[in-house]
Amino acid sequence: MIQRVLGSRTVGAIGLGGMPMSIEGRPDADRSIATIHAALDAGVTLIDTADAYHLHAGEVGHNEELIARALAGYGGDTSEVLVATKGGHLRPGDGTWTQNGRPDHLKEAAKASARRLGVEAIGLYQFHRPDPDVPYADSIGAIRELLDEGVILQAGISNADVAQIDLANDILGGRLVSVQNQFSPAHRSSLAELEHCATLGIAFLPWSPLGGIRNAAALGGRHAAFARIAAAHGVSPQQVTLAWELALAPIVIPIPGASRPASVQDSVKAVGLTLSADEIALLSQS
Ligand SMILES: NC(=O)c1ccc[n+]([C@@H]2O[C@H](COP(=O)([O-])OP(=O)(O)OC[C@H]3O[C@@H](n4cnc5c(N)ncnc54)[C@H](OP(=O)(O)O)[C@@H]3O)[C@@H](O)[C@H]2O)c1
Repeated sequence: MIQRVLGSRTVGAIGLGGMPMSIEGRPDADRSIATIHAALDAGVTLIDTADAYHLHAGEVGHNEELIARALAGYGGDTSEVLVATKGGHLRPGDGTWTQNGRPDHLKEAAKASARRLGVEAIGLYQFHRPDPDVPYADSIGAIRELLDEGVILQAGISNADVAQIDLANDILGGRLVSVQNQFSPAHRSSLAELEHCATLGIAFLPWSPLGGIRNAAALGGRHAAFARIAAAHGVSPQQVTLAWELALAPIVIPIPGASRPASVQDSVKAVGLTLSADEIALLSQS
């Protein structure tokens, strides 16, 4: 069952979230590429991006192009790296986010993402967010066509509830491989979706797993139990957070964002951090 989860190579691991390298506050390209290379050096094999990770209106796909450039310029083997992108969410350039889940848009957007990523077929394409103006089944129908046409190799969804997960999996003929929802110590409302994914053997990718770009640094100050257990292990509260998320189910793959090599180097150590059953229970209740 777990073999459906993005290939067994990513199970029990963390991915890299690309958003902080392309939106407000982003670093220069050299630091971003150093961050992506640090992730690859540390063994990360999943990088999450979206066509909407950009700042100005005219630079759709900024993050996808950055990742493609970093992979092309990496000295080591990248054949096992899965780049997961998304479509259906837009940034007009004024800091707001809008939706477009129309089938024709999604089909064009996926092809444009493939071009920017420099691939014939996208490894994992995720429908970014339900569009209230478009029936969910119509948007997922476009994702199914992209799969059938070979434009994308695997299909995922994001910001979906349990009913949408089941509907999407149904429309995709049982080929849904991942769900990406917000989940962190501060945002636990998607626990039901996480547990549903565990039942189905579908990957669950917590987004903003450290509470989001603006809150990640202060995580230990806001969540005392995470800070206490981190101190006991001599590691960062961020590492404990990621280890806790990984411990919730084997299908969980957190995708912490980073814009500095040191962040991702610290985060990957969560994979080797074992929390006791008592610690996990305490964190889950805190
Ligand atoms: N599907 C969706 O709707 C959706 C929405 C939001 C995000 N996402 C995805 O989820 C990813 C993660 O979310 P996010 O970037 O918003 O928030 P996040 O992962 O909760 O926080 C990101 C911030 O955490 C910091 N950080 C990372 N590892 C750290 C560590 N070990 N110690 C201390 N600080 C650490 C980074 O700081 P530095 O910048 O200083 O390195 C980064 O800016 C995004 O990058 C994106 O790929 C998806």
